[in-house]
Amino acid sequence: MEMQEKIKIQQEYINKIKKLNVGKNLKYTILTMGCQLNENDSEKISGMIEEMGYTKTNKIEEANLIAFNTCCVRENAEDKLFGKLGEVKKYKEANGTIIAIGGCMMQEKHIVEKLKQSYPFFDVVFGPHTLYKFPEDIYETMLNKKRIEDILDIDGEVIEGLPIRRDDNIKASVAIMNGCNNFCSYCIVPYVRGRERSRNAKDIIAEIQCLAKEGYKEITLLGQNVNSYMRVERERGENVGEIDSFAKLLREVNKIEGIERIRFISPHPKDFTDDVIEAIKDCQKVCKIIHLPLQAGSSEILKTMNRKYTKEQYLALVDRMKAKIPGVVFSTDIIVGFPGETEEDFEETLDVVQKVCFEQVYMFIYSRRVGTPADKMENQISEEIKHARFNRLKQLVESQIQENNQKYVGTVQKVLVEGKSKTNENMLTGRTDTNKVVNFEGTDDLIGKIIELKILSEHMWYLKGEIK
Ligand code: 5AD
Ligand code: SF4
Repeated sequence: MEMQEKIKIQQEYINKIKKLNVGKNLKYTILTMGCQLNENDSEKISGMIEEMGYTKTNKIEEANLIAFNTCCVRENAEDKLFGKLGEVKKYKEANGTIIAIGGCMMQEKHIVEKLKQSYPFFDVVFGPHTLYKFPEDIYETMLNKKRIEDILDIDGEVIEGLPIRRDDNIKASVAIMNGCNNFCSYCIVPYVRGRERSRNAKDIIAEIQCLAKEGYKEITLLGQNVNSYMRVERERGENVGEIDSFAKLLREVNKIEGIERIRFISPHPKDFTDDVIEAIKDCQKVCKIIHLPLQAGSSEILKTMNRKYTKEQYLALVDRMKAKIPGVVFSTDIIVGFPGETEEDFEETLDVVQKVCFEQVYMFIYSRRVGTPADKMENQISEEIKHARFNRLKQLVESQIQENNQKYVGTVQKVLVEGKSKTNENMLTGRTDTNKVVNFEGTDDLIGKIIELKILSEHMWYLKGEIK
């Protein structure tokens, strides 16, 4: 069946549910874990739920439908889900709340087994590949009071045309591809999100044009490996049209009137070809901060991680970009305590951090994931050493951030104003091109605009500025 046809069927389920719900003033809440791709999926789940006639609430106790969108990249997300399920059981018992659990964790068989044994009160489990069938699953459970397990092991298709309810009205994320073919040895993503497949460029462009018309200013292009956009399709010789690479896609998005900033996460260092570097340099709207996941600084560890680059190649790439793109800066992801990581290996990580001086480092303690090669490695690192290394890395990163923040003080920065500050009603907040938060005093009419601010002081996680 054509995808369009499949979406039409789901639209019919949405209409049926809407009829059942009419006049009931029903509410829903959604709890999202994990990465921006999951947040983007949650916006689609919310879009479908709202069309079914539910309105959003942040009060979990008053929700008639609770949706979880789970992540399984690290173990702590599991504890979070089970904790929350323990909490919502009483709402289910008291009000008959519908409980639907989706996301990457549902692709893990042992997790669904545990749900059935210890939390059998759920109504629907679904995965990333069956997300578009959410209306049908909800309808079935509403009508037949049956527990639905809708998980597919094969790779899902690229889905177009789902309703979407966006969380923000200035910044939006747009998925450009799904899945991953890299199989880094620590990572569960390729097993749960399936093989890499890219969305058609014309669909991506149409979506962004629509966002621009709605007044969105900043777009983040999302994918597990964005700089290999359309690569597998190209290699298979598929007719994918003219925009058949990430560099070309960036250039097209850059042309869209109304969009003022373009970001993307995450590229893979091994796929950072020169055409992408050229495109970043040429495209004035592409922010000159590149998220370039390092994961580890030791070439030995990178090899067992299956990252396919060495420390030297990573540093050479950074240098190449610095030489070609004026003012470019970097952020990164780092894992500490990967199996077999010695003190010397860890010091190589610290060395790269020293050398690159990242704007932001997302630090993770290695977490064993069932089914990945690294989980089977014998030389696992003790929790104690992992935590000690994490703290050493954190100290270095924080001292660098503070030092780096100092460089902003006294400069004038272009800031996209995002809204009121969450901690102070009288302040506005926005971000620099390099993604630094800046708080300042200003009037609401500035929200959604890019303005120039003079940076007055730095406060670790934000800067303070004033209108120039
Ligand atoms: N343990 C710790 N961190 C992990 N990541 C992915 N898998 C694991 C794991 N098993 C981190 C990587 C990746 C980020 C999204 O999550 O740094 O870039
Ligand atoms: Fe996981 Fe590596 Fe794919 Fe990123 S590139 S999703 S870390 S396997």
